[in-house]
Amino acid sequence: MIIAVDGPTASGKGTIARAIAEHFGLPVLDTGLLYRAVGYQTQLNHGDPDNAADALAACDFPDSLLDDPALRYESTGSLASRVSVHRQVRAALLQRQVDFANQPGGAVLDGRDIGTVIAPHADAKLFVTASPEERARRRHAEMLGRGVEVTYETVLADIHARDTRDTGRADAPLRRAADAMLLDNTNLDQDAAILAAIAFVTERTAQR
Ligand code: DC
Repeated sequence: MIIAVDGPTASGKGTIARAIAEHFGLPVLDTGLLYRAVGYQTQLNHGDPDNAADALAACDFPDSLLDDPALRYESTGSLASRVSVHRQVRAALLQRQVDFANQPGGAVLDGRDIGTVIAPHADAKLFVTASPEERARRRHAEMLGRGVEVTYETVLADIHARDTRDTGRADAPLRRAADAMLLDNTNLDQDAAILAAIAFVTERTAQR
């Protein structure tokens, strides 16, 4: 059983993917972390994230980097979005994700192109989203809670920039797969969104 969870930044897709994985007893991969590692490694190499060769050179980051708290920084998310535009970077990270998706027993993956590119044959696909303003409001509150001093306007501008880059790139842009369930949680709290997601996956996989 393969479950694909896609959506824009700060949509809650990671939380929903982890809850689905726990409910069904499946392993979960946050694919954004791979792009974050490439973005961060590019910076460690003093490379330019907008340069394809520099970004490609960073794709052989050490596995230990995936545990680095710096990958969670907002600035690393922007670096990830920039390196993820390069076709060569996406190709370098492809097999690792495909292998994870197709492991015996199944898997949950969250990202931007899971339902469209990595696992188009997934048993259930979700496209998790919320309005940019609501995503900015949640991200802003979360950052303030962590002691990061930032304005709502800055967070909203960053979300718009990330959305534009992630949906506008030529290779594997963020888009809802035709057969993905749209889960707009603008007006749903986290528990309600998780319940809706699990109900959908249960129904989809029972039909198979
Ligand atoms: O989900 P996230 O915010 O951690 O992802 C960071 C960036 O990585 C995102 O802005 C675009 C890129 N990404 C991608 O291109 N494809 C994926 N499957 C996951 C992330």
